[in-house]
Amino acid sequence: MGDITFSVGQVAKRAGVKVSTLHFYESKGLIHSLRNSGNQRRYRKDVMRQVSVIKAAQKMGVSLEEIRVALDALPGNRTPDAKDWAALAERWNAMLNQRIDYLTRLRDSITSCIGCGCLSLEVCPIYNEDDHLAACGDGPVILDQKHMPTEDESAQG
Ligand code: FES
Repeated sequence: MGDITFSVGQVAKRAGVKVSTLHFYESKGLIHSLRNSGNQRRYRKDVMRQVSVIKAAQKMGVSLEEIRVALDALPGNRTPDAKDWAALAERWNAMLNQRIDYLTRLRDSITSCIGCGCLSLEVCPIYNEDDHLAACGDGPVILDQKHMPTEDESAQG
């Protein structure tokens, strides 16, 4: 093989994460180790970059499963290069914007719940037990502006 490899402690120190974090990433299939003759974990140098990508993606709110799928989709399971990262960041930025938009609408709609407590299936913009609005469409239809209760509807409870 001939590659320079690093112990889990060395990787943790260089990448600025805990050893337990590396073990966790590995258990989720995000990074991979080799075993030396003493059956100890060893990591190739490019694991540092993989950990950097994982940490950056996590800061963007990307789930570990989404990260794993994205990394697995790279040709030959290669470590993301600058171009790969740029493409991933663009995709995840779009997802982040969608989430911000969703959370903004959620935040705006929850104001009618403050001090209310009705949890009405008909008018509460948050409560939607048993997905009774499924017939209205996919996704968070109650958060769409057209489904938002008016102040009068909210007051009726
Ligand atoms: S609790 Fe949400 S509108 Fe009443």
